[in-house]
Amino acid sequence: MKLENRIALVTGAGSGIGRAIALLFAEHGAVVIVNDVNLDAAKKTIEEMGTASSKAYAARADVSDSAQVKTMFFDIDARYQRLDILVNNAGIGEVSENKRKERNRKAEARLSEMRTGSLQTHWDITQEMSDEEWNRVLSVHLNGTFFCTREALKLVTRNNRGVIINMSSLAALAGIASAPHYELQREAFCHSPGLLRKKSPRGMSA
Ligand SMILES: NC(=O)c1ccc[n+]([C@@H]2O[C@H](COP(=O)([O-])OP(=O)(O)OC[C@H]3O[C@@H](n4cnc5c(N)ncnc54)[C@H](O)[C@@H]3O)[C@@H](O)[C@H]2O)c1
Repeated sequence: MKLENRIALVTGAGSGIGRAIALLFAEHGAVVIVNDVNLDAAKKTIEEMGTASSKAYAARADVSDSAQVKTMFFDIDARYQRLDILVNNAGIGEVSENKRKERNRKAEARLSEMRTGSLQTHWDITQEMSDEEWNRVLSVHLNGTFFCTREALKLVTRNNRGVIINMSSLAALAGIASAPHYELQREAFCHSPGLLRKKSPRGMSA
């Protein structure tokens, strides 16, 4: 049990990679706080933990909303008075269902055009992107990571021991023409401030 009784918060743990991390942490003995903006999804992750589910709890909060993040950390402090691990995993791809469909349509069109050697469908993502779409993606990934990290550090520094894990993506390194806003914020985590990237003198790592 590598993580016996460690207190771990995983954001966006209601599905995908976050859920897998939460389940693995629980398997290794951690007390897992399963955050998601979708409370039912967070609860479902806990149901999958088997006997470890009794130690876990679901915390609904939109990580892009600093007030909600503060409330979530207030509850964590009240319950455990400490935090050992934060995984900043919550993320979004498309902001709206229509945008997702449109992007899929273009992807399919491009694939068939590539097969015939005459590419005519272009992504044209940047010129068609709304303020809302741009702001939402940056808000969840960048602000969300900052808001959670800020509150986590207040707890982690009490014991001068802890780990913060930020999700990045190959999109940050290789680029992704269909999602410049996603690529940009993911790149930011490859260049996180020294405080987060290095083992700090306070015994924390990120
Ligand atoms: N899937 C991939 O191939 C891939 C590759 C590289 C990086 N990533 C990164 O990994 C992370 C997880 O990706 P995934 O594919 O598992 O995504 P996913 O969509 O399966 O899961 C993301 C979860 O985050 C939750 N969420 C979304 N916005 C939130 C918010 N504001 N507050 C709290 N929770 C919120 C969603 O409800 C969902 O449960 C993301 O940060 C993503 O950028 C994914």
